[in-house]
Amino acid sequence: MDYKVADLSLAEFGRKEIRLAEHEMPGLMAVREEYAAAKPLRGAKIMGSLHMTIQTAVLIETLVELGADVRWVSCNIFSTQDHAAAAVVVGPNGTVDDPKGVPVFAWKGETLEEYWWCTDQALQWPDGTGPNMILDDGGDATLLVHKGAEYEKAGAVPTASEDDPEEWAIILDTLRRTIAEKPGRWTATAEGIKGVTEETTTGVHRLYDMAKNGTLLFPAINVNDSVTKSKFDNKYGCRHSVVDGLNRATDVLIGGKVAVVCGYGDVGKGCAEALRGQGARVIVTEIDPICALQAAMDGYQVTTLDDVIGIADIFVTATGNKDIIRADHMERMKHQAIVSNIGHFDNEIDMAGLARIPGIEKIEIKPQVHEWRFPDGHSIIVLAEGRLMNLGCATGHPSFVMSNSFTNQVIAQIELFTKTDDYPIGVYTLPKHLDEKVARLHLDALGVKLTKLTKEQAEYIGVDVEGPYKSDHYRY
Ligand code: NAI
Repeated sequence: MDYKVADLSLAEFGRKEIRLAEHEMPGLMAVREEYAAAKPLRGAKIMGSLHMTIQTAVLIETLVELGADVRWVSCNIFSTQDHAAAAVVVGPNGTVDDPKGVPVFAWKGETLEEYWWCTDQALQWPDGTGPNMILDDGGDATLLVHKGAEYEKAGAVPTASEDDPEEWAIILDTLRRTIAEKPGRWTATAEGIKGVTEETTTGVHRLYDMAKNGTLLFPAINVNDSVTKSKFDNKYGCRHSVVDGLNRATDVLIGGKVAVVCGYGDVGKGCAEALRGQGARVIVTEIDPICALQAAMDGYQVTTLDDVIGIADIFVTATGNKDIIRADHMERMKHQAIVSNIGHFDNEIDMAGLARIPGIEKIEIKPQVHEWRFPDGHSIIVLAEGRLMNLGCATGHPSFVMSNSFTNQVIAQIELFTKTDDYPIGVYTLPKHLDEKVARLHLDALGVKLTKLTKEQAEYIGVDVEGPYKSDHYRY
Protein backbone atom coordinates (compact mmCIF):
# COMPACT_ATOMS: atom_id res chain seq x y z
CA MET A 1 0.00 0.00 0.00
CA ASP A 2 1.32 3.48 -0.86
CA TYR A 3 0.95 6.19 1.78
CA LYS A 4 2.91 8.99 3.46
CA VAL A 5 2.30 9.95 7.07
CA ALA A 6 4.54 11.28 9.87
CA ASP A 7 4.95 8.19 12.03
CA LEU A 8 3.14 4.87 11.75
CA SER A 9 4.04 3.94 15.33
CA LEU A 10 1.43 6.49 16.51
CA ALA A 11 -1.29 4.17 15.19
CA GLU A 12 -2.09 2.55 18.54
CA PHE A 13 -2.74 5.92 20.19
CA GLY A 14 -4.82 6.90 17.18
CA ARG A 15 -6.85 3.69 17.37
CA LYS A 16 -7.65 4.26 21.05
CA GLU A 17 -8.94 7.75 20.30
CA ILE A 18 -10.92 6.47 17.30
CA ARG A 19 -12.59 3.96 19.61
CA LEU A 20 -13.67 6.75 21.97
CA ALA A 21 -14.77 8.93 19.05
CA GLU A 22 -16.97 6.17 17.61
CA HIS A 23 -19.10 6.30 20.75
CA GLU A 24 -19.51 10.06 20.27
CA MET A 25 -20.47 9.71 16.59
CA PRO A 26 -23.86 7.96 16.74
CA GLY A 27 -24.94 9.16 13.29
CA LEU A 28 -21.99 7.57 11.53
CA MET A 29 -22.28 4.35 13.53
CA ALA A 30 -26.02 4.12 12.77
CA VAL A 31 -25.32 4.55 9.06
CA ARG A 32 -22.73 1.76 9.26
CA GLU A 33 -25.35 -0.52 10.80
CA GLU A 34 -28.10 0.47 8.37
CA TYR A 35 -25.98 -0.26 5.28
CA ALA A 36 -23.83 -3.10 6.63
CA ALA A 37 -25.41 -5.68 4.33
CA ALA A 38 -26.24 -3.56 1.28
CA LYS A 39 -22.76 -1.94 0.97
CA PRO A 40 -24.05 0.85 -1.30
CA LEU A 41 -20.56 2.26 -1.89
CA ARG A 42 -19.19 -0.97 -3.36
CA GLY A 43 -17.37 0.12 -6.52
CA ALA A 44 -16.91 3.68 -5.31
CA LYS A 45 -13.34 4.99 -5.49
CA ILE A 46 -13.49 7.96 -3.17
CA MET A 47 -10.71 10.54 -3.00
CA GLY A 48 -11.13 12.56 0.19
CA SER A 49 -9.55 15.94 0.91
CA LEU A 50 -10.62 16.86 4.43
CA HIS A 51 -8.73 17.58 7.68
CA MET A 52 -7.12 14.25 8.68
CA THR A 53 -8.36 14.16 12.28
CA ILE A 54 -9.69 11.44 14.59
CA GLN A 55 -13.25 12.34 13.59
CA THR A 56 -12.33 12.06 9.92
CA ALA A 57 -10.84 8.64 10.65
CA VAL A 58 -14.32 7.48 11.76
CA LEU A 59 -15.75 8.94 8.54
CA ILE A 60 -13.14 7.18 6.38
CA GLU A 61 -13.72 3.84 8.06
CA THR A 62 -17.48 4.27 7.64
CA LEU A 63 -17.01 4.78 3.88
CA VAL A 64 -14.84 1.64 3.80
CA GLU A 65 -17.44 -0.37 5.75
CA LEU A 66 -20.01 0.68 3.14
CA GLY A 67 -17.81 -0.83 0.44
CA ALA A 68 -15.73 2.11 -0.82
CA ASP A 69 -12.11 2.10 -1.89
CA VAL A 70 -10.68 5.28 -0.35
CA ARG A 71 -7.56 7.49 -0.63
CA TRP A 72 -7.16 10.54 1.63
CA VAL A 73 -5.36 13.86 2.18
CA SER A 74 -5.83 16.71 4.59
CA CYS A 75 -7.22 19.96 3.20
CA ASN A 76 -4.89 22.12 5.29
CA ILE A 77 -1.14 21.96 5.92
CA PHE A 78 -1.51 22.20 9.72
CA SER A 79 -4.69 20.27 10.50
CA THR A 80 -3.55 16.65 10.35
CA GLN A 81 -3.48 14.72 13.61
CA ASP A 82 -0.55 12.42 12.99
CA HIS A 83 -1.88 9.63 15.24
CA ALA A 84 -5.18 9.65 13.34
CA ALA A 85 -3.38 9.45 9.98
CA ALA A 86 -1.24 6.55 11.23
CA ALA A 87 -4.24 4.65 12.60
CA VAL A 88 -6.14 4.98 9.31
CA VAL A 89 -3.17 3.65 7.33
CA VAL A 90 -2.70 0.69 9.69
CA GLY A 91 -6.45 0.08 9.77
CA PRO A 92 -8.52 -1.76 12.40
CA ASN A 93 -7.13 -5.14 11.30
CA GLY A 94 -3.56 -4.28 10.33
CA THR A 95 -0.31 -3.82 12.20
CA VAL A 96 2.46 -1.25 11.91
CA ASP A 97 4.50 -3.87 10.00
CA ASP A 98 1.57 -4.94 7.88
CA PRO A 99 -0.73 -1.95 7.34
CA LYS A 100 -4.14 -2.90 5.95
CA GLY A 101 -6.04 0.36 6.11
CA VAL A 102 -6.45 3.28 3.73
CA PRO A 103 -3.69 5.16 1.85
CA VAL A 104 -3.33 8.54 3.55
CA PHE A 105 -0.97 11.28 2.38
CA ALA A 106 -0.95 13.81 5.21
CA TRP A 107 1.13 15.03 8.13
CA LYS A 108 1.04 18.07 10.40
CA GLY A 109 3.22 20.85 9.03
CA GLU A 110 3.35 20.12 5.31
CA THR A 111 4.91 22.69 3.00
CA LEU A 112 2.61 23.99 0.28
CA GLU A 113 4.58 21.97 -2.31
CA GLU A 114 4.07 18.84 -0.22
CA TYR A 115 0.37 19.68 0.22
CA TRP A 116 -0.27 19.72 -3.53
CA TRP A 117 1.93 16.65 -4.03
CA CYS A 118 -0.26 14.82 -1.49
CA THR A 119 -3.45 15.94 -3.27
CA ASP A 120 -2.05 14.66 -6.55
CA GLN A 121 -1.09 11.30 -4.96
CA ALA A 122 -4.56 10.74 -3.54
CA LEU A 123 -6.13 11.50 -6.94
CA GLN A 124 -4.22 8.63 -8.52
CA TRP A 125 -4.87 4.92 -7.86
CA PRO A 126 -1.93 2.51 -8.19
CA ASP A 127 -3.36 1.23 -11.51
CA GLY A 128 -3.11 4.74 -12.95
CA THR A 129 -6.84 5.50 -12.84
CA GLY A 130 -8.49 8.31 -10.89
CA PRO A 131 -11.33 8.36 -8.37
CA ASN A 132 -14.99 8.14 -9.36
CA MET A 133 -16.08 10.25 -6.36
CA ILE A 134 -14.53 13.20 -4.50
CA LEU A 135 -15.29 14.15 -0.91
CA ASP A 136 -13.94 17.68 -0.61
CA ASP A 137 -13.52 20.35 2.06
CA GLY A 138 -12.75 23.77 0.62
CA GLY A 139 -12.63 22.55 -2.95
CA ASP A 140 -8.89 22.04 -3.51
CA ALA A 141 -9.19 18.53 -4.95
CA THR A 142 -12.07 19.67 -7.17
CA LEU A 143 -9.98 22.68 -8.25
CA LEU A 144 -6.97 20.56 -9.24
CA VAL A 145 -9.08 18.25 -11.42
CA HIS A 146 -10.95 21.16 -13.04
CA LYS A 147 -7.85 23.25 -13.73
CA GLY A 148 -5.96 20.20 -15.01
CA ALA A 149 -8.73 19.35 -17.45
CA GLU A 150 -9.07 23.02 -18.48
CA TYR A 151 -5.36 23.43 -19.25
CA GLU A 152 -5.17 20.09 -21.05
CA LYS A 153 -7.99 21.29 -23.29
CA ALA A 154 -6.24 24.65 -23.82
CA GLY A 155 -2.99 22.83 -24.63
CA ALA A 156 -0.86 24.70 -22.07
CA VAL A 157 -0.57 25.51 -18.38
CA PRO A 158 -0.25 29.29 -17.86
CA THR A 159 2.55 30.89 -15.86
CA ALA A 160 1.65 32.59 -12.58
CA SER A 161 1.95 36.36 -12.55
CA GLU A 162 3.75 38.32 -9.85
CA ASP A 163 0.42 39.42 -8.38
CA ASP A 164 -0.76 35.83 -7.91
CA PRO A 165 -0.44 34.29 -4.44
CA GLU A 166 2.59 32.02 -3.94
CA GLU A 167 0.29 29.00 -3.76
CA TRP A 168 -1.09 29.54 -7.25
CA ALA A 169 2.38 29.12 -8.77
CA ILE A 170 2.72 25.82 -6.87
CA ILE A 171 -0.64 24.59 -8.19
CA LEU A 172 0.39 25.47 -11.75
CA ASP A 173 3.76 23.71 -11.30
CA THR A 174 1.94 20.60 -10.02
CA LEU A 175 -0.30 20.61 -13.09
CA ARG A 176 2.59 21.24 -15.50
CA ARG A 177 4.53 18.30 -14.04
CA THR A 178 1.59 15.90 -13.92
CA ILE A 179 0.42 16.73 -17.46
CA ALA A 180 3.95 16.24 -18.77
CA GLU A 181 4.15 12.86 -16.99
CA LYS A 182 0.79 11.68 -18.30
CA PRO A 183 -0.91 13.82 -20.95
CA GLY A 184 -4.70 13.66 -20.84
CA ARG A 185 -4.70 12.43 -17.25
CA TRP A 186 -6.87 15.20 -15.83
CA THR A 187 -9.44 15.06 -18.62
CA ALA A 188 -9.79 11.32 -18.05
CA THR A 189 -10.01 11.86 -14.28
CA ALA A 190 -12.75 14.49 -14.66
CA GLU A 191 -14.71 12.23 -17.02
CA GLY A 192 -14.52 9.35 -14.56
CA ILE A 193 -15.91 11.33 -11.63
CA LYS A 194 -19.60 10.83 -10.87
CA GLY A 195 -19.68 13.70 -8.39
CA VAL A 196 -18.28 15.60 -5.45
CA THR A 197 -19.72 16.23 -2.00
CA GLU A 198 -18.44 19.49 -0.52
CA GLU A 199 -18.08 20.14 3.19
CA THR A 200 -17.62 23.87 3.72
CA THR A 201 -18.97 27.35 2.93
CA THR A 202 -15.88 28.40 0.99
CA GLY A 203 -15.83 25.25 -1.17
CA VAL A 204 -19.54 25.62 -1.86
CA HIS A 205 -18.97 29.21 -3.08
CA ARG A 206 -16.45 27.87 -5.57
CA LEU A 207 -18.90 25.22 -6.83
CA TYR A 208 -21.76 27.68 -7.37
CA ASP A 209 -19.32 29.98 -9.22
CA MET A 210 -18.31 27.15 -11.55
CA ALA A 211 -21.94 26.12 -12.09
CA LYS A 212 -22.80 29.74 -12.94
CA ASN A 213 -19.87 30.07 -15.38
CA GLY A 214 -20.73 26.75 -17.00
CA THR A 215 -17.33 25.27 -16.08
CA LEU A 216 -18.49 22.68 -13.55
CA LEU A 217 -17.57 19.24 -14.91
CA PHE A 218 -19.56 16.92 -12.62
CA PRO A 219 -22.50 17.16 -10.20
CA ALA A 220 -21.96 18.32 -6.65
CA ILE A 221 -23.83 18.01 -3.38
CA ASN A 222 -23.49 21.00 -1.11
CA VAL A 223 -23.21 19.29 2.27
CA ASN A 224 -22.46 22.57 4.05
CA ASP A 225 -26.01 23.82 3.62
CA SER A 226 -27.67 20.83 5.18
CA VAL A 227 -29.14 22.41 8.30
CA THR A 228 -27.52 19.68 10.38
CA LYS A 229 -24.13 20.78 9.00
CA SER A 230 -23.83 24.57 8.85
CA LYS A 231 -26.16 25.34 11.75
CA PHE A 232 -24.31 22.84 13.96
CA ASP A 233 -20.67 22.30 12.90
CA ASN A 234 -20.04 25.90 11.82
CA LYS A 235 -21.79 27.33 14.88
CA TYR A 236 -21.57 24.90 17.81
CA GLY A 237 -18.35 23.34 16.53
CA CYS A 238 -16.58 26.71 16.40
CA ARG A 239 -18.16 27.67 19.72
CA HIS A 240 -16.14 24.80 21.16
CA SER A 241 -12.95 24.93 19.14
CA VAL A 242 -12.25 28.68 18.89
CA VAL A 243 -11.55 28.86 22.63
CA ASP A 244 -9.65 25.58 22.47
CA GLY A 245 -7.38 27.09 19.78
CA LEU A 246 -6.77 30.26 21.81
CA ASN A 247 -6.08 28.34 25.00
CA ARG A 248 -3.72 25.77 23.57
CA ALA A 249 -1.83 28.41 21.61
CA THR A 250 -1.50 31.13 24.23
CA ASP A 251 -3.35 30.20 27.45
CA VAL A 252 -4.11 33.89 27.83
CA LEU A 253 -7.07 34.73 30.09
CA ILE A 254 -10.01 35.59 27.85
CA GLY A 255 -12.26 37.04 30.58
CA GLY A 256 -12.24 40.84 30.62
CA LYS A 257 -10.45 41.14 27.30
CA VAL A 258 -11.83 42.85 24.21
CA ALA A 259 -12.33 40.31 21.42
CA VAL A 260 -13.24 41.24 17.84
CA VAL A 261 -15.04 38.70 15.66
CA CYS A 262 -15.04 39.63 11.96
CA GLY A 263 -18.11 38.12 10.28
CA TYR A 264 -21.35 37.13 12.04
CA GLY A 265 -22.38 34.20 9.88
CA ASP A 266 -22.68 30.70 11.31
CA VAL A 267 -19.01 30.50 12.33
CA GLY A 268 -18.90 34.06 13.70
CA LYS A 269 -22.04 33.46 15.79
CA GLY A 270 -20.43 30.44 17.44
CA CYS A 271 -17.14 32.26 18.06
CA ALA A 272 -18.79 35.37 19.51
CA GLU A 273 -20.91 33.29 21.88
CA ALA A 274 -17.91 31.30 23.09
CA LEU A 275 -15.78 34.38 23.71
CA ARG A 276 -18.63 36.08 25.56
CA GLY A 277 -19.04 32.87 27.58
CA GLN A 278 -15.44 33.28 28.71
CA GLY A 279 -16.19 36.81 29.87
CA ALA A 280 -14.70 38.72 26.97
CA ARG A 281 -16.28 41.96 25.76
CA VAL A 282 -17.06 40.93 22.19
CA ILE A 283 -17.23 43.33 19.24
CA VAL A 284 -18.48 42.21 15.82
CA THR A 285 -17.72 43.55 12.33
CA GLU A 286 -20.09 42.81 9.43
CA ILE A 287 -20.85 43.96 5.90
CA ASP A 288 -24.34 42.43 5.75
CA PRO A 289 -27.04 44.56 7.42
CA ILE A 290 -29.05 41.49 8.41
CA CYS A 291 -26.14 39.80 10.19
CA ALA A 292 -25.06 43.15 11.69
CA LEU A 293 -28.58 43.62 13.10
CA GLN A 294 -28.56 40.05 14.44
CA ALA A 295 -25.28 40.74 16.22
CA ALA A 296 -26.62 43.97 17.68
CA MET A 297 -29.83 42.27 18.88
CA ASP A 298 -27.69 39.49 20.40
CA GLY A 299 -26.09 42.22 22.47
CA TYR A 300 -22.77 42.77 20.72
CA GLN A 301 -21.28 46.12 19.76
CA VAL A 302 -21.06 46.21 15.97
CA THR A 303 -18.53 48.55 14.45
CA THR A 304 -15.69 48.69 11.94
CA LEU A 305 -12.30 47.14 12.45
CA ASP A 306 -10.63 50.54 12.13
CA ASP A 307 -12.66 51.81 15.08
CA VAL A 308 -11.38 49.19 17.49
CA ILE A 309 -8.04 48.20 16.05
CA GLY A 310 -6.05 49.82 18.85
CA ILE A 311 -8.15 48.62 21.80
CA ALA A 312 -8.81 44.93 21.11
CA ASP A 313 -6.80 42.09 22.64
CA ILE A 314 -8.02 39.20 20.47
CA PHE A 315 -9.03 39.16 16.80
CA VAL A 316 -10.79 36.24 15.08
CA THR A 317 -11.69 36.43 11.38
CA ALA A 318 -14.65 34.27 10.33
CA THR A 319 -15.76 35.73 6.99
CA GLY A 320 -14.63 33.36 4.23
CA ASN A 321 -13.55 36.61 2.54
CA LYS A 322 -10.10 38.01 1.82
CA ASP A 323 -8.10 41.01 3.11
CA ILE A 324 -10.05 41.35 6.37
CA ILE A 325 -7.06 42.16 8.60
CA ARG A 326 -4.45 44.07 6.59
CA ALA A 327 -0.79 44.68 7.46
CA ASP A 328 -1.52 48.31 8.38
CA HIS A 329 -4.20 47.06 10.80
CA MET A 330 -1.69 44.77 12.49
CA GLU A 331 0.83 47.62 12.81
CA ARG A 332 -1.74 49.59 14.80
CA MET A 333 -2.73 46.80 17.22
CA LYS A 334 -1.95 46.72 20.96
CA HIS A 335 1.22 45.07 22.21
CA GLN A 336 0.72 41.28 22.19
CA ALA A 337 -2.70 41.42 20.59
CA ILE A 338 -3.64 37.94 19.35
CA VAL A 339 -4.50 37.68 15.65
CA SER A 340 -6.23 34.58 14.34
CA ASN A 341 -8.42 33.26 11.55
CA ILE A 342 -11.02 30.50 11.74
CA GLY A 343 -12.24 30.85 8.11
CA HIS A 344 -11.23 28.23 5.56
CA PHE A 345 -8.39 30.01 3.75
CA ASP A 346 -5.47 32.03 5.08
CA ASN A 347 -6.15 35.07 2.90
CA GLU A 348 -8.43 36.65 5.55
CA ILE A 349 -5.25 37.98 7.19
CA ASP A 350 -2.58 39.60 4.99
CA MET A 351 0.37 37.51 6.16
CA ALA A 352 2.41 38.31 3.05
CA GLY A 353 1.94 42.04 3.70
CA LEU A 354 2.93 41.60 7.34
CA ALA A 355 6.15 39.83 6.32
CA ARG A 356 6.98 42.69 3.93
CA ILE A 357 6.96 45.42 6.63
CA PRO A 358 10.56 46.74 6.72
CA GLY A 359 12.38 45.67 9.88
CA ILE A 360 9.69 43.25 11.08
CA GLU A 361 10.93 40.20 13.00
CA LYS A 362 9.16 36.80 13.22
CA ILE A 363 9.88 34.87 16.41
CA GLU A 364 8.62 31.30 16.76
CA ILE A 365 7.21 30.78 20.25
CA LYS A 366 6.24 27.22 19.29
CA PRO A 367 4.93 25.66 16.06
CA GLN A 368 1.81 27.55 14.88
CA VAL A 369 2.37 30.38 17.39
CA HIS A 370 4.50 33.32 16.22
CA GLU A 371 5.34 36.66 17.71
CA TRP A 372 5.79 39.34 15.04
CA ARG A 373 7.86 42.22 16.44
CA PHE A 374 7.56 45.59 14.72
CA PRO A 375 10.56 47.94 14.42
CA ASP A 376 9.17 50.14 17.24
CA GLY A 377 9.45 47.16 19.63
CA HIS A 378 5.78 46.27 20.04
CA SER A 379 4.56 42.93 18.80
CA ILE A 380 1.49 40.85 17.95
CA ILE A 381 0.92 37.10 18.26
CA VAL A 382 -0.31 35.35 15.11
CA LEU A 383 -1.86 31.88 15.36
CA ALA A 384 -1.38 29.09 12.80
CA GLU A 385 0.30 31.51 10.37
CA GLY A 386 -3.14 32.90 9.56
CA ARG A 387 -4.65 29.49 8.73
CA LEU A 388 -7.65 28.09 10.56
CA MET A 389 -6.58 28.33 14.18
CA ASN A 390 -8.96 25.76 15.64
CA LEU A 391 -7.41 23.00 13.55
CA GLY A 392 -3.87 24.44 13.44
CA CYS A 393 -3.50 25.17 17.16
CA ALA A 394 -6.03 22.69 18.57
CA THR A 395 -7.85 19.58 17.36
CA GLY A 396 -10.82 21.15 15.58
CA HIS A 397 -14.41 20.33 16.40
CA PRO A 398 -15.34 17.51 18.76
CA SER A 399 -16.71 14.20 17.56
CA PHE A 400 -20.38 14.66 18.34
CA VAL A 401 -20.86 17.71 16.13
CA MET A 402 -18.72 16.20 13.36
CA SER A 403 -20.94 13.13 13.44
CA ASN A 404 -23.74 15.37 12.12
CA SER A 405 -21.58 16.81 9.35
CA PHE A 406 -20.09 13.48 8.34
CA THR A 407 -23.39 11.59 8.38
CA ASN A 408 -24.52 14.15 5.78
CA GLN A 409 -21.32 13.46 3.85
CA VAL A 410 -21.89 9.70 3.80
CA ILE A 411 -25.54 10.09 2.78
CA ALA A 412 -24.50 12.54 0.04
CA GLN A 413 -21.86 10.12 -1.25
CA ILE A 414 -24.45 7.32 -1.38
CA GLU A 415 -26.93 9.61 -3.18
CA LEU A 416 -24.50 10.72 -5.89
CA PHE A 417 -22.88 7.33 -6.35
CA THR A 418 -26.04 5.22 -6.49
CA LYS A 419 -28.43 7.71 -8.15
CA THR A 420 -26.01 9.39 -10.54
CA ASP A 421 -28.64 9.81 -13.26
CA ASP A 422 -30.89 11.80 -10.92
CA TYR A 423 -28.20 14.47 -10.65
CA PRO A 424 -27.30 16.20 -13.93
CA ILE A 425 -24.30 18.56 -13.62
CA GLY A 426 -25.22 21.20 -11.05
CA VAL A 427 -25.03 21.88 -7.31
CA TYR A 428 -27.64 20.25 -5.03
CA THR A 429 -28.47 20.12 -1.35
CA LEU A 430 -29.77 17.00 0.35
CA PRO A 431 -33.56 16.73 0.66
CA LYS A 432 -34.98 17.83 4.00
CA HIS A 433 -36.12 14.38 5.08
CA LEU A 434 -32.46 13.28 5.05
CA ASP A 435 -31.43 16.38 7.02
CA GLU A 436 -34.10 15.51 9.60
CA LYS A 437 -32.87 11.92 9.60
CA VAL A 438 -29.34 13.08 10.51
CA ALA A 439 -30.71 15.09 13.43
CA ARG A 440 -32.90 12.20 14.56
CA LEU A 441 -29.88 9.89 14.72
CA HIS A 442 -28.30 12.19 17.32
CA LEU A 443 -31.24 12.67 19.69
CA ASP A 444 -31.05 9.52 21.81
CA ALA A 445 -27.44 10.13 22.76
CA LEU A 446 -28.48 13.45 24.31
CA GLY A 447 -31.57 12.05 26.00
CA VAL A 448 -33.90 14.12 23.83
CA LYS A 449 -37.56 13.10 23.90
CA LEU A 450 -39.33 14.28 20.78
CA THR A 451 -43.01 15.21 20.84
CA LYS A 452 -45.05 13.34 18.24
CA LEU A 453 -47.53 15.21 16.08
CA THR A 454 -51.09 13.98 16.10
CA LYS A 455 -52.66 13.34 12.69
CA GLU A 456 -54.96 16.33 13.26
CA GLN A 457 -52.07 18.60 14.19
CA ALA A 458 -50.08 17.47 11.17
CA GLU A 459 -53.02 18.24 8.89
CA TYR A 460 -53.53 21.62 10.57
CA ILE A 461 -49.94 22.77 9.86
CA GLY A 462 -49.84 21.02 6.51
CA VAL A 463 -47.10 18.45 7.05
CA ASP A 464 -46.84 14.69 7.18
CA VAL A 465 -46.74 13.08 10.64
CA GLU A 466 -43.34 11.59 9.71
CA GLY A 467 -41.99 14.89 8.30
CA PRO A 468 -40.45 16.83 6.66
CA TYR A 469 -41.66 19.37 9.19
CA LYS A 470 -40.53 22.56 7.52
CA SER A 471 -40.69 24.04 4.03
CA ASP A 472 -37.46 24.41 2.08
CA HIS A 473 -37.40 28.16 2.65
CA TYR A 474 -37.57 27.87 6.44
CA ARG A 475 -34.35 29.29 7.92
CA TYR A 476 -34.05 27.72 11.41
P1 NAI B 1 -21.19 32.71 6.36
O1 NAI B 1 -21.33 33.12 4.96
O2 NAI B 1 -22.36 32.19 7.12
O3 NAI B 1 -20.59 33.92 7.24
C1 NAI B 1 -19.58 34.78 6.83
C2 NAI B 1 -19.99 36.18 7.26
O4 NAI B 1 -18.91 37.08 7.01
C3 NAI B 1 -21.19 36.69 6.45
O5 NAI B 1 -22.23 37.06 7.33
C4 NAI B 1 -20.63 37.89 5.67
O6 NAI B 1 -21.58 38.92 5.52
C5 NAI B 1 -19.46 38.31 6.54
N1 NAI B 1 -18.43 39.07 5.83
C6 NAI B 1 -18.01 38.94 4.55
N2 NAI B 1 -17.06 39.86 4.26
C7 NAI B 1 -16.86 40.56 5.41
C8 NAI B 1 -16.01 41.65 5.74
N3 NAI B 1 -15.20 42.20 4.85
N4 NAI B 1 -16.05 42.11 7.01
C9 NAI B 1 -16.92 41.60 7.93
N5 NAI B 1 -17.75 40.57 7.65
C10 NAI B 1 -17.73 40.07 6.41
O7 NAI B 1 -20.00 31.63 6.39
P2 NAI B 1 -19.65 30.62 7.59
O8 NAI B 1 -20.37 29.35 7.37
O9 NAI B 1 -19.77 31.34 8.86
O10 NAI B 1 -18.12 30.32 7.25
C11 NAI B 1 -17.10 31.29 7.36
C12 NAI B 1 -15.76 30.66 6.98
O11 NAI B 1 -15.43 29.65 7.93
C13 NAI B 1 -15.75 29.95 5.63
O12 NAI B 1 -14.48 30.10 5.04
C14 NAI B 1 -15.97 28.50 6.00
O13 NAI B 1 -15.54 27.64 4.97
C15 NAI B 1 -15.18 28.41 7.25
N6 NAI B 1 -15.49 27.34 8.20
C16 NAI B 1 -14.50 27.02 9.08
C17 NAI B 1 -14.70 26.06 10.04
C18 NAI B 1 -13.60 25.71 10.98
O14 NAI B 1 -13.70 24.72 11.69
N7 NAI B 1 -12.53 26.47 11.06
C19 NAI B 1 -15.99 25.35 10.16
C20 NAI B 1 -16.99 25.80 9.23
C21 NAI B 1 -16.74 26.76 8.29
